[in-house]
Amino acid sequence: MADTLHVAYITPEMVPFAKTGGLADVSAAFPKALVRLGHRVTVVLPRYGSISPPPGKLAGPVPVSVDAVPRTAGFHRTRTDAGVEVVFVEHPPFFDRSGLYGWDDDGPRFAFLARSAVEYFRARGERPDVFHAHDWQTGLVPVYLKALYWDDATLRRTPSVFTIHNVAYQGQFAADTLGMLGLPRHLGNDFALGYHGGVSFLKGGTVFAELVSTVSPTYEREIQGEEHGLGFQDVLRTRGGDVVGVLNGVDYEIWDPRKDEQIARRYTAADLDGKRACKADLLRAFGLPGSPDLPVIGIISRLVWQKGFDIVAEAWWDLLRRPVRMIALGTGDVDVQAGLAELARRAPDRFAVRFAYDEGLAHRVVAGSDMFLMPSRSEPCGLTQMYAMRYGTVPIARSTGGLVDTVEPWDPVTGRGTGFRFDHADGTGLIWAIDRALDTRRDPAGWETLMRNGMARDHSWERSAREYVSLYRRAMSMA
Ligand code: ADP
Ligand code: GLC
Repeated sequence: MADTLHVAYITPEMVPFAKTGGLADVSAAFPKALVRLGHRVTVVLPRYGSISPPPGKLAGPVPVSVDAVPRTAGFHRTRTDAGVEVVFVEHPPFFDRSGLYGWDDDGPRFAFLARSAVEYFRARGERPDVFHAHDWQTGLVPVYLKALYWDDATLRRTPSVFTIHNVAYQGQFAADTLGMLGLPRHLGNDFALGYHGGVSFLKGGTVFAELVSTVSPTYEREIQGEEHGLGFQDVLRTRGGDVVGVLNGVDYEIWDPRKDEQIARRYTAADLDGKRACKADLLRAFGLPGSPDLPVIGIISRLVWQKGFDIVAEAWWDLLRRPVRMIALGTGDVDVQAGLAELARRAPDRFAVRFAYDEGLAHRVVAGSDMFLMPSRSEPCGLTQMYAMRYGTVPIARSTGGLVDTVEPWDPVTGRGTGFRFDHADGTGLIWAIDRALDTRRDPAGWETLMRNGMARDHSWERSAREYVSLYRRAMSMA
């Protein structure tokens, strides 16, 4: 088997081009790590309206059919400084819009992404060793490969790996969608894409890929059960040992206080002075009074139910009785926003919130906070707790998914551990963990050990990228 693999990496998001969450960070950092290991990676994503002008040269067009309308895809090709090939699928009627998802025709839009990605390689007469598709938006990649290209002269028997970044987003559409997408209608049966009377693209990827992965070992176990499986557990169970959990990593070229140019002052584990400057800068940015000793708990999050902010609301009065302040940066559901806005209104000197999507400000929150809160009800992996640790910002996290795999509870006796975790998804659980953190902080030497433990953790992509390479080889041996 060839030592160097060619991976076709199909994703709806990639930093710095298009981002709604962690998948975008992963799709930039992980391909880079694969290239560093000597492999070739071609990332394919849509040319959304916000990617303007698109980088690279335009090739094509290639006819791509996903509905009754005759359509063609163009491809802008470029290569990042790190040597990752990036291909933007050009089709203005589907992608030249504001926002990434949430349109009525998301079914055909992302079927178009999946099929165009496959057609891109076919048109070039190129057969990648493996397709790696991410989340429901690319769930049809394995389906098309099996249903339409299995005997293709170029793409014959190309295997695929499908990664579920969050099982809460299942890509469900009406039952008549398949006929439209050029796929055999019988694939709508319950052993294929059929799901609760309609079809699910997430199920398509899960059933048709050679192997399925998710983004942490704990989440891999959790989603086989009812509480976290959200209806999908039975589908996953049919794949048995073909579902694996591989922990995401961090791009330390972007998230490292030693070289971060977006923070007030850079710092290291040996010299934490800069972190104090970052805290002062953060308090100013959010308009909170300066008192440097009063701890600041930072939050950066999509504001959706899964992230657990109702738990913060439940703990609110107890929180106010403690010597802490909170700073939150997020966007999302209007009701979650309204809840947080109300808390900030009640205690303006203790809690400040900014409803914005702001990459630079996110770096300042990570660097300037003392603690970092993730009260998630479910968290497939979570990246921000890993970012926080590298900045000496101590995570306080609910014990779920990737938070279990990355935040090691502080043990004052051995001096080991990187943060605090709580099991119960309620106000009492949250307050219990915050009290542990505040107690620990009363001993400055212990607290600094805890900060430095987190800063020393290595969550770089290399190890996980190697795991994925063995997964690719396993998938290749299955096709
Ligand atoms: P999820 O993908 O579920 O949102 P992750 O922790 O994997 O959770 O990734 C979230 C990513 O989005 C991180 O890079 C985080 O910094 C970023 N992020 C979330 N909300 C905001 C915001 N309002 N402004 C800037 N960055 C944000
Ligand atoms: C999803 C998950 C998040 C994970 C990210 C990257 O958005 O919600 O936990 O870190 O994908 O895999």
